[in-house]
Amino acid sequence: MNALLKQVRSIQSGALASIEQCSDLESLRTLEVKLLGRKGEVTRALHGLKDLPEDERRLAGQVLNELKKSVEEALARRRSGLEAAAMEASLSGGRLDPTEPSARRPLGHEHPVQAIVRELCDLFESMGFTVIDGPEVESEYFNFEALNIPSWHPARDMQDTFWVAGRRAVMRTHTSGMQIRAMRRYGAPLRVVAPGRVFRYEAQDASHEHTFHQLEGLVVDEGIAVSHLKGTLEAMLRGLFKNRVVTRLRPFYFPFVEPGLELDFGCLLCEQKGCPACKGTGWIELCGCGMVHPRVLEAASVDPEKYTGFAFGMGIDRLAMMRHAVTDIRYFMSGDLRFLEQF
Ligand code: PHE
Repeated sequence: MNALLKQVRSIQSGALASIEQCSDLESLRTLEVKLLGRKGEVTRALHGLKDLPEDERRLAGQVLNELKKSVEEALARRRSGLEAAAMEASLSGGRLDPTEPSARRPLGHEHPVQAIVRELCDLFESMGFTVIDGPEVESEYFNFEALNIPSWHPARDMQDTFWVAGRRAVMRTHTSGMQIRAMRRYGAPLRVVAPGRVFRYEAQDASHEHTFHQLEGLVVDEGIAVSHLKGTLEAMLRGLFKNRVVTRLRPFYFPFVEPGLELDFGCLLCEQKGCPACKGTGWIELCGCGMVHPRVLEAASVDPEKYTGFAFGMGIDRLAMMRHAVTDIRYFMSGDLRFLEQF
């Protein structure tokens, strides 16, 4: 019996001291298991009762139950103390300061293609052009017919097309339909640029994407000639690359211009010595262009006897590729933030 009392006292003082020392609820829970759990110190002592002689059991039982009760009470006291402290800490941590700046939301930024569109629009506005906008779903008439591409014309096959089911409409394959819309709306003379998205049923690869961006330009006035076209695009390139840029014109076929041309500029990366960007030729293709076909002027009710004009349509995504040395056009529309956040 004496031995038991001694054991109880030692369990009690040890238990009360460790409970007092517990500084958080988590370790208090662990301690509780260590004392009162199935294999806990107190529980084991209680189990020892059955080994005592019968006449000692009653008293011993009382002593052990008191031990259990005192440990339970100490645990409960400590728990509520710790809970109160935690509550107070969270309240004082969560104080309301209405003058504190709010949590920052990450800001997005301009898409690299849009950045070039904006720069080009600024440059053309500085040359007296008006920036106009038009629909991405375009009528067959504006996208093809009015541009001297009747339904039987093989030139339709040059642009693989998304047709809109049940309507004589397409996802516009180029921005050239804006030539007609602009002339009908504003008449001649005029200078406009029309940037926008265009769509083609493409076999995609590193330099072909089904959705890309073009900037269409149109100038109609008396006495407009190819030299105006060349001078305007050279001025644009100088503005864009902050550098003198040489250009060349090559004959090309588009049904809505006569003569039809393509304009190349001297590669700035290798100074025309030949590099991968210019495929070793020293020249980079910029755009299709030419003098507006008289039939196109007529379709837009502009008198071809009085007026002439030039038009061009350039791909913006490839310019963005060159500016940032991007090797695959498909990155631009991929919506991949790992790509976009680099700009
Ligand atoms: N629309 C032509 C294309 O998408 C480019 C072009 C525009 C050509 C204007 C001549 C004049 O390829």
